[in-house]
Order: sequence, then C-alpha cells, then structure tokens
Amino acid sequence: MKILVTGTEGYIGARLAPWLMAAGHEVFGLDTGLYRDGCLYMDSVGMPAAPKTLYRDLRTVTPADFAGFDAVVHLAELSNDPLGQNRPEITYKINHEGSVRIARAAREAGVRRFVYASSCSVYGVGSGEFLDETAPVNPQTAYAECKVRVERDVRPLADDSFSVVFLRNATAYGPSPRMRFDIVLNDLCALAWTKKKIAMVSDGSPWRPIVHIEDICEAMRCAVEAPAEAINAEIFNVGASAENYRVREIAAIVAGAFPGCEVTAGPPSKDNRSYRVAFDKIATRLPGFEARWTAERGALELRALFERIELSPETFEFRAFTRLKQLKYLQRTGQVDADLYWSAR
Ligand SMILES: NC(=O)c1ccc[n+]([C@@H]2O[C@H](COP(=O)([O-])OP(=O)(O)OC[C@H]3O[C@@H](n4cnc5c(N)ncnc54)[C@H](O)[C@@H]3O)[C@@H](O)[C@H]2O)c1
Repeated sequence: MKILVTGTEGYIGARLAPWLMAAGHEVFGLDTGLYRDGCLYMDSVGMPAAPKTLYRDLRTVTPADFAGFDAVVHLAELSNDPLGQNRPEITYKINHEGSVRIARAAREAGVRRFVYASSCSVYGVGSGEFLDETAPVNPQTAYAECKVRVERDVRPLADDSFSVVFLRNATAYGPSPRMRFDIVLNDLCALAWTKKKIAMVSDGSPWRPIVHIEDICEAMRCAVEAPAEAINAEIFNVGASAENYRVREIAAIVAGAFPGCEVTAGPPSKDNRSYRVAFDKIATRLPGFEARWTAERGALELRALFERIELSPETFEFRAFTRLKQLKYLQRTGQVDADLYWSAR
C-alpha cells in the first residue's frame, strides 16, 4: 500500500516508517519537524530508510496532499500538554481541529484507510479496575480531551469506502532515534544510567499501562492491513493486560536492569491520572497482532543501547528529547511563534 504517515520526525513515527517499509509498503512522511535537532543515535535500519517527507504544518493540509494514498496513519500532534494551563488552545487547534482536518481531507481525497494514534490517557482516573474500550472516558488534560474529541468527530466519517480505526496506545517505551525521555520507562532508565539514582517525582502509586514502541508499530501495521470489516470504526487499546504497573513497580524493574541504583519516592503527586487498562480486545480481534515485549526486557534493551552509545547526562538532558523543553526553547528563541508556526525570518 502507499501510506502517508504523519509525525515521521517524532518518537514513534521515526520507528514506524521503516517498520511499514520493511513490511513492503511504500511510505511517505508529513511533519513540521519540531524535534529534528534531536537524534539519539544513527541506526543502520532506521535512518537510511527515512521516508520522503513533506515538511508541513498539519493545520495547512488540503485534500490535494493526500491524493494517491491508500492509507493515512496519523501520529503528528503535540504529544503531551506542552503549554499547559497557559495556552491549551494550541493543543485544541493542532490536536483536535488539525487531526479532524486531516481525516476529512484524506477522505475527500479518496484515501480508504485512516489509523489514528489515540491514547489510554483518555481513561484519566480509574479506581484500579481494568478499563476496556467500553469504559467511560475521563480525560484529565487538554491532550486527553482532544483524543476523545478526535475519536468522536472522526468516527462518523467511517463508511464502506473510508475505514477508520482508533488505537489507544499505552505509554510507550523503547529506543527511537527521535528519543523521548519524558515518558516513564525511558526516563527512569536514563536516570538509572546517568545518575545511578531513580528519583520518582511522585509516591509511585499511580497505575500506568506501558507498551514497547515496536508493539505499537506492529499494531499500526496490523490495523492498516486488516480486512476493513474487522476494524472499521473500532477502538483498540494497544498494549498487554500484564503490562499494567504502578510507577513504583516500573522503578523496581528498572533498578533490576541497572544494578547499583537507588530508588527514591517523591511526595504524592497533584497529577491524579491513574488508570489500569484491559487489552483483551486487541489480542483477540486485531488480526495478526500479538504484544511481544515486557517492561523488564525493554529496560534491558535500553541499558544495552545506553552502553553502546555511551549516553551522557548532557545528552539525556538535551532539550529535544523532552518535548516541553524543546517547544519552550523554540518559542523563547523566536524560532516558532506563539502558535507554534515556524517564524518567517
Ligand atoms: N509516545 C507515547 O507514549 C504515546 C502514547 C499514546 C499515544 N501517543 C500518540 O502517538 C502520536 C505520536 O507520539 P510520539 O511520542 O511519537 O510524539 P512526538 O512528539 O515524538 O512526535 C510528534 C510529531 O508530530 C509533529 N507535529 C507536532 N505538531 C505538528 C503540526 N502542527 N504539524 C505537523 N507536524 C506536527 C512533531 O514535529 C513530531 O515530530 C501522538 O499523537 C501521541 O499523542 C503517544
């Protein structure tokens, strides 16, 4: 298939494009390139296979940009609450309105498949029970609220000629050239490696399902290739039920993979997000999908990567690997404007 992947310059997209190419697809990218100056490692598989990419802001796309594609896998968004309380409207403009614009444009252009990278963060706060795709959503942030709105607004576009599927990914971990150290397992592993100390920012009690980046890529491949009737208008949580952990359990797993580390807890967090998620549907109803990774194996893989590339504290703390730091830097230095468009200088 000829596939347009948005967000190919980001954490998941940088792994997904070569993953789909290796499965025999013709892949093109679309990204505005906010994190391009961060590259954690050069990869003999990933980098040379980088797709031909259209450097565009998704808020400006038109149906003409999607002509000739069989499928769109849409990842490009602000991937956490970057400007926080101050300007949540940018998150709504890009993540909600921008994503709906992409889906409509793709449909109008005759694209037959649309795969959306949603998130388990839509569940927000649960009381510890396993939440499946039918559980009520309870978004706690603008980011999560946008995921709910995109699902709500894109679902009615589904019909016999345009199939849509919503993949609610657990929090990802694992290596990517466009690394993120602002997500839990990657962060704790890098703390363990560079500081020999895993300082949790909370008391470690919140529940988080986590999933390896390759399992996400595989779910996306399966969603693109599945018979339309198996997936059209469906939501799938992406992960494995056994991979729900309290943050302190993740810290203990990381400490096991990085011997000699001290683990410390912080005060109870004001961030009350905590959710435990059921992943039975994807295991049984997404043809071909099987989650293969565990947190333990993922932590060992990251240790091997950090050893190989000699990860330094400076690299770990480099702004481009923490999404919020990079966006603030680009704004402070006038490289992007207040709305996160590249400045015309
Ligand atoms: N990483 C996770 O743990 C996780 C979990 C659940 C869901 N997701 C979702 O998966 C998707 C990808 O996540 P990621 O971790 O790779 O994020 P990321 O921040 O690493 O990548 C997002 C990419 O989108 C691009 N982008 C942002 N705004 C854009 C715009 N206006 N126009 C064009 N491009 C734009 C950025 O330049 C970046 O390359 C996101 O939608 C995210 O919400 C991620």
